[in-house]
This record gives sequence, C-alpha cells and structure tokens, in this order.
Amino acid sequence: MKTITMDLTNALAEAVGANGIDAGELATTLANISDYYARLLAKPFAFMTLPETKFQFDEMWTLADKAAAMDIKNLVILGIGGSSLGTQTIFEALLHPLHNMEERFRNGKPRYFILDNIDPHKMAAIVETIIPDIDRTFLVVISKSGETPETISQFMLFNELMRRSPGYQQRIVLITDREKGLLNRIAEKEGYPTLNLPDGVGGRFSVLTPVGLFPSALMGLDIKRLSAGAAGMAAHTVRYDGEENMAFVLAAILYLMDRAGKKIHVVMPYCERLGGFADWFRQLEAESLGKKGLGPTPTKSMGVTDQHSQLQLYVEGPKDKCVILFYSATQEVPIPASFDYLEDVQYLANKDMKSLFHAEFQGTRLSLTEAQTPNISLILDEVSDYNLGALFYLFEMVTAIMGHLLSVNAFDQPGVEQGKIYTKAMMGKKGLEKEKEHTEALLLRRAKTIVF
Ligand code: PA5
Repeated sequence: MKTITMDLTNALAEAVGANGIDAGELATTLANISDYYARLLAKPFAFMTLPETKFQFDEMWTLADKAAAMDIKNLVILGIGGSSLGTQTIFEALLHPLHNMEERFRNGKPRYFILDNIDPHKMAAIVETIIPDIDRTFLVVISKSGETPETISQFMLFNELMRRSPGYQQRIVLITDREKGLLNRIAEKEGYPTLNLPDGVGGRFSVLTPVGLFPSALMGLDIKRLSAGAAGMAAHTVRYDGEENMAFVLAAILYLMDRAGKKIHVVMPYCERLGGFADWFRQLEAESLGKKGLGPTPTKSMGVTDQHSQLQLYVEGPKDKCVILFYSATQEVPIPASFDYLEDVQYLANKDMKSLFHAEFQGTRLSLTEAQTPNISLILDEVSDYNLGALFYLFEMVTAIMGHLLSVNAFDQPGVEQGKIYTKAMMGKKGLEKEKEHTEALLLRRAKTIVF
C-alpha cells in the first residue's frame, strides 16, 4: 500500500551540487541515529506509545456521544500553542473547507471556533456571534498546565457566558494534566468533566491524545483511523533499515541541512488542507529545537499562492533554505474551453485544475532544483485521517531525533515559560511581586520612539 511517498532526490548533492547533502555524510548520520534509536525503542518517549495505548478513547466516546445528543450549534475550543494547533490542523485537513459557512457542509455537526488568540477585536466578534445560541454552545478548554493566562482568561469569560443557560455544566469539558493545575481545581468545584494528557506528553506532542482527538470526536471524525495512521507510521519507523526509514532519513537530512547553513526550513504544502499542518510543524520544530543558540527556523508558504510571493526568494535569494514540499490533490475541476478567439489561452482549454496544480508543483520543484535550492517532497495519495495520523507521528519522531542530533532537549520550552511569568507579573499575580518590579524597571528604560 502506498500512502505517503517521500522524494529526497533534490536534497542530495547529485541534484543540487554543494548545496545538497553528501551521500557519505548521510550514511554516517544514519548510522549514528541507529544507536540512539535502539536506546529509544528500549525506553520510548511517552508520545511514541500513544498509538498503542489509545489513551482515554472510551472516555472520549462517552462524552462525544452525550454531546451528539444535545443539538449543539457552536463548538468553542479554548487553548493555545500545542493545545490548539493539533485540532486546527485536523479540522482544516478533514472538514469541509467551508464548514463554518454553510450548514449543508456540516453534516449536522456544529460550527467551530478555535480561540488561540486573545486579540480583543476577534474575541469580541466571536462572543457576539455565539451569544444568541449560548444554550447550544459546547465549550472545550485545553491547557496542560492549567495556568496559561490566555486560556484561563478566556475561560473566565466563557464560563460566565455559559452560566446564563440551563444545563451548561453538561456542555463544558476540560482537558488538562492528570493532577496538576487550576483546571483540575475548577473541575472539582464546578463539576465539569475532564479528560487528560498522559504523563510525559507535552503540549506540542499531544495531538494524538484527547487534546486533538476529543474535539475531532465531537465533529464525528474517525479518531481510530487517525490513531491507526500513527500506528502505521510507528511500525514503519520501528524497523531500522537505514535509508528506507522515513523518520531517520528526514531527520538526518534536516539536521545536515541545518549544519550546512540551510537553517530555514520552508514548509510549503501544495494542498490548502495541509496549511494547518505547516503551522503545527512550525511550532513543533521551533519550540522543540530552538535552544542554546541552535535550531532551524521553520516557516510556512502555500503552494501555489506563494509562488507569486516567496518563490523568487527561494530560487534566487541566499542559499540558507531547505524547502519541504507537500502535495496532494484528488478532486477534479474541469477547465472548459472558453475565449475561443484567444490562441494564447487554449493550452488550458479542456484540461483540469488538478493537472494544472500538479504542473505548478512540479514546476516549483524543477526551478528550485535548477537554482540549487535543496528540496524534499512528501506526496500523499489523499488527505485522509489515516495519512494525517501518520504525518503527525512522522514529524514528531523527526523532531525528537533532531533534538538528539543537535544535543538539545526537545521536550521543554524555557523561553515560553519566561514570557508567561512576565505576563502574570504585569497583571498582578500574587507571589510575582519581584518579577513585576523587574518588568516595570525594564519598561521604564528610556525608549527611542518616532511618532507619526
Ligand atoms: O507545546 C507546548 O508545550 C506549548 O506550546 C503549550 O502547549 C502552550 O504554551 C500552552 O500551554 P498549556 O497547554 O499549558 O496551556
């Protein structure tokens, strides 16, 4: 069965000269990973065991079945970073692109609102949209720590809104750490049901836990297939046959690219449904590997749109990038013959958008390669729940392996934590008086400004 094909030809020196990876170097790096991987299999990271353990699947189905009987109109999801990007990715990939716009595309499922920002303008607009149907609104609050100010402040707002309607306790679910954090205390006091993250799984590695799977179950998506895709990829990456192992090879190439000064990883899907996936990976790679002055800079481009925005830079700009392309297109949209008086457009007549899309993808690969910009392509036979689960697992493995190669801890995020502390201090949290003084002193420093 062929579901995802990775083509690394254009990342190798044979295709892109000195900007590519030398085959010998790749083989050496792969051999080094093999030792590490043997250790990892003996003592796997918690995220690696998820496809097997199917953590809290029964609890998720029970709660999702109850919700399905409730005639819900709005699903509101509060969470940020690793607590929201997985759900966003799954919804963008697997729901109808115009899901929220038209009822006929929703198959009886609710509209969804993922509030991963507290921008007051957008918050106000969403609240305004939801209030008329607050009694048909289902709220999922996701925070592993249970302490993130963005999510907690949103929850304070929505908690008060929800309380205006009868039976609201049945329409709120909290997803958080098994024991720690304020959400557990709130759940206990208010009687809200909870789901959890398994021990040892951090936010950005949590998409295949209730964090990504419960909202998906509420939308009627097949979480078993998502998990089966991850299990399939786990089985693929478990056998070490060096150059045939997608996770090892991709991690080794991206690491060698980084070391050779190609420190910008451009993730460029030719498939709008994978736009969310690019955002998800951008966070996974940046927050996991950006440490100790190291770490590649991931960035997102959308094919074909960004051919007319970024491609010039990738082709003729500095050779500091490695482009990771994704491609998937199944739908056919015929281009009818039209404007028969214009010879110049007839090459498009009676063709299909799908073949044009494919030609654009190939055209980009060729022009990058000719300009000696290294590029890798992952081609999906379809954007399915199974393939998406496999991609999640693949890129989590790649990130963990790259962490090892770069000698950084891929599973912490001290830089993010510091920002959280400053925010809480500035907002007057008890116990952070010293930090508050420190931030005030910093903010009082003479600023150099220009006013228009
Ligand atoms: O990946 C991570 O650990 C972070 O991006 C977190 O998910 C994010 O900071 C939100 O944290 P929490 O889930 O504790 O609210």
